[in-house]
Amino acid sequence: MDDVARVILAIGSQEVAEEVLHLLDRSGRARVVATAADDRQLAEAVRQLEPDAVVAEPAIAAAGVGSAALLALATRESIAALRAAIGAGAQGFYVWPQERQALLGRVLALAAARRVPERRATVVAVHAARGGAGCTFVATHLAQAWGRRGTSCLVVECDPEFADLTQALGFADREVRTIADLIPVGDELTVEHLDGIKVRHDAGFDVVLGGEPSAADAVEEDLLRTIVGLAAASADVVVAHVPRQLSVFTRWCLEQSDRIVEVVSLDVLSFRAASRAIEILAPLGLDERLGLVVNRAARSEITAGDVRRVFDREPLAVVPFDGAVARLQDHGRLSPPRGRVGRAFNRLAATILETRAAGAEVAS
Ligand SMILES: Nc1ncnc2c1ncn2[C@@H]1O[C@H](COP(=O)(O)OP(=O)(O)OP(=O)(O)O)[C@@H](O)[C@H]1O
Ligand SMILES: [Mg+2]
Repeated sequence: MDDVARVILAIGSQEVAEEVLHLLDRSGRARVVATAADDRQLAEAVRQLEPDAVVAEPAIAAAGVGSAALLALATRESIAALRAAIGAGAQGFYVWPQERQALLGRVLALAAARRVPERRATVVAVHAARGGAGCTFVATHLAQAWGRRGTSCLVVECDPEFADLTQALGFADREVRTIADLIPVGDELTVEHLDGIKVRHDAGFDVVLGGEPSAADAVEEDLLRTIVGLAAASADVVVAHVPRQLSVFTRWCLEQSDRIVEVVSLDVLSFRAASRAIEILAPLGLDERLGLVVNRAARSEITAGDVRRVFDREPLAVVPFDGAVARLQDHGRLSPPRGRVGRAFNRLAATILETRAAGAEVAS
């Protein structure tokens, strides 16, 4: 994918225009595709070339530049120029040459943004505040349910330290590609690289697996962020299997997600942990997206009714306890999709996409 920002220059002074052109060209990440001397030329160039950015004197760009980013440039700061820039819808105002680095930085950011293609997925984060409540179990079985419905689903290991997905999905004894294979690609990561390390599961979904423990430290959070961004561009549903710890990265994952599934089991410590997580996350304003899934429900002192009472919300699903699950998971196998557990996940998978669609309608 092209990660070079396409720029049109509209600067009256030939000398300044040439300096800006050289600055952008030298970066290797921006290409000046046209220069315009007046507003008519600019309008025509924008229409024909659909640039990512227009670097212009405010007076020339007064009529706006369509969907491109307008970066206003002036050789001295004046209220009139600033007003004109705001009036034209400029995203930034730069005094030349003093603020040349800031201008370059903004153009490079636009170039970087070109690398993350448009999102198409519903991103669903699965989190469990209490260890062992069933985060891995719920994430993998949701993926199975979407795979069976023919929805293209990509599960992403966002917890490369423990990488539970590898065992739970039966890849532990197999030579497979993992996130660790992307470390050398670093900043240049594209959808094609991600496609190259996706592993297909028999149940009809793809997984991006965590690597060996020795590589865990080398998997930087920025790499994971890019992976999540690219994943969202390459499947209909992305399941983010997030760490229990509410680190900056986990919070970022939750913020990126359209739906957050918080898994709780019917015991005091799980309730307490989920309540704490919800309270800690409250400032992020994610409450509308967050739904509870009760897992391992069995006859106990605490019931699903207590979930409604304590959390003041209806659980999205109640997944029953099933004595066969632990053994299956230990052997890297999923519960049969037609069994009681499988059916609960089929309903949950449908509910999650329905509520997302309803939400999207309201938003539009
Ligand atoms: N519905 C269920 N019925 C019976 N056993 C279950 C059920 N869900 C999960 N388990 C079992 O409970 C254990 C914990 O589940 P899982 O590994 O999915 O939890 P987790 O939240 O990912 O744990 P961790 O915090 O260690 O990552 C596993 O042995 C799993 O097989
Ligand atoms: Mg787990």
